[in-house]
Amino acid sequence: MAIIAPSLLSADFLQLQQACDMLNNSEADWYHLDVMDGRFVPNISYGLPVIEHIRKATKKVCDVHLMILEPEKYAEAFKNAGADILTVHIEACVHLHRNLQQIKSLGMKAGVALNPHTPVSLLQDVIQDIDLVLIMSVNPGFGGQTFIPHTLEKIRQLRGMINEKKLSTLIEVDGGITLANAPQIVEAGADALVAGNTVFKSPDPAATIAQLKKETTGLVNR
Ligand code: DX5
Ligand code: ZN
Repeated sequence: MAIIAPSLLSADFLQLQQACDMLNNSEADWYHLDVMDGRFVPNISYGLPVIEHIRKATKKVCDVHLMILEPEKYAEAFKNAGADILTVHIEACVHLHRNLQQIKSLGMKAGVALNPHTPVSLLQDVIQDIDLVLIMSVNPGFGGQTFIPHTLEKIRQLRGMINEKKLSTLIEVDGGITLANAPQIVEAGADALVAGNTVFKSPDPAATIAQLKKETTGLVNR
């Protein structure tokens, strides 16, 4: 059964309390919180004050996905806002190893995100220092895009690397995940699935989360 991490980016921002209540009462495991700076990605989402409020509304894991340049400038602020997992983009980090040590020394789990064009092999010499790899299955910046099929091959490669080194690094996949493609993504080796539109644009979001859990039961391929 996969970890399900609904993305609040697709929620109604005027009804965030309602979204948090729904998630808290659902089978969702993590809150996926997408932060965009209008520089690393061509969009601006929400930031620290919103996450601070969400932190107060839930005890579930806050999984913060930073789509920003110079993430080291804000790591401490996101810790203070309540992040449990802080994920930075490899394409935005000149000194990735240093960034990971900083995140872990602040007491958070350290994640690294890869854009669709970025090969998994770039992680070969740093994978042992990563708690979570987030494989982007769309180009970051917007919810509601279509899953890029080649992502499945990247997940298999990464699963091979992690297993070969006997690590417990989690694989999270983000973008275009639906009830239809979730099973094959987990079969390829994913541990955690982000879902924005699939959850929040469905008539019954909590039931959709339960369905995602059900569809990914018994498929974990290790
Ligand atoms: C995109 C974000 C995603 C997004 C996913 O840049 O990182 O987390 O919210 O939304 P869906 O599931 O609708 O593709
Ligand atoms: Zn995301």
